[in-house]
Amino acid sequence: MSGAGNTNKKQRIDKILSHMGIGSRSDIRKQAKQGLITVNGAVVKDSGFHVDSAQDVIEVGGEPVLYREFIYLMMNKPPGVLSATEDKRDRTVLDLLKAEQALFEPFPVGRLDKDTVGLLLLTNDGKLAHELLSPRKHVPKTYEATVEGEVDAADVAAFAAGVELEDGYVTLPASLRILSRERGSRVLSYISLTITEGKFHQVKRMFVAVGKKVVFLKRVSMGDLKLDESLPQGACRELTAEELELLRRGGAEE
Ligand code: URA
Repeated sequence: MSGAGNTNKKQRIDKILSHMGIGSRSDIRKQAKQGLITVNGAVVKDSGFHVDSAQDVIEVGGEPVLYREFIYLMMNKPPGVLSATEDKRDRTVLDLLKAEQALFEPFPVGRLDKDTVGLLLLTNDGKLAHELLSPRKHVPKTYEATVEGEVDAADVAAFAAGVELEDGYVTLPASLRILSRERGSRVLSYISLTITEGKFHQVKRMFVAVGKKVVFLKRVSMGDLKLDESLPQGACRELTAEELELLRRGGAEE
């Protein structure tokens, strides 16, 4: 387990141990009463005892517990779920997490529409999330889309210059690539688009601005972090140390 994310702030030992999946708060209270928990070698019977997880050595039943505060998850978001933390009607991406991932209380970094699929980052590291979402950082996000209509060189030029959305906002320059086209009963264009901002429904609205309609949308990268295509839709895994580093670098750029 990496040491990334450790901080020096003191926290209740039952909170730390339940985060680590050692048991519920009441399990931990019982273990503490039984004298099974030690901090720096001394038995701690009070499960509300405060410890410094970066410095103190916590052991349960003689086994050291390696604590970390943060979790960083990559999800391949499926269609039909909301990238929100709760909703009265619909399932959210949090409903797809395993119990041991949910313990860390991660939240989605930014939003994908209900029907959008692909790369979604979830973390409980508010600072990194804030940096990645900050409009000042212009973190590039690349999408692949199927668009109804013939996306052409004029659209590529328009996106490179910035297009005016229906509310009058002019988007920052975006890089549009036409991957292929299909001519059946209707023309479909397969494209890749990189934008450096994150206005509501931005990709769909940019195509509406040039008279076209997105019928499928998938995010494939955020900064230098790429979607792991071997991750099935709806599945989630922790970022590797290398991926986390790539993401941090992206968030740090001005
Ligand atoms: N742009 C959109 O229109 N929808 C998304 O989900 C993401 C970007």
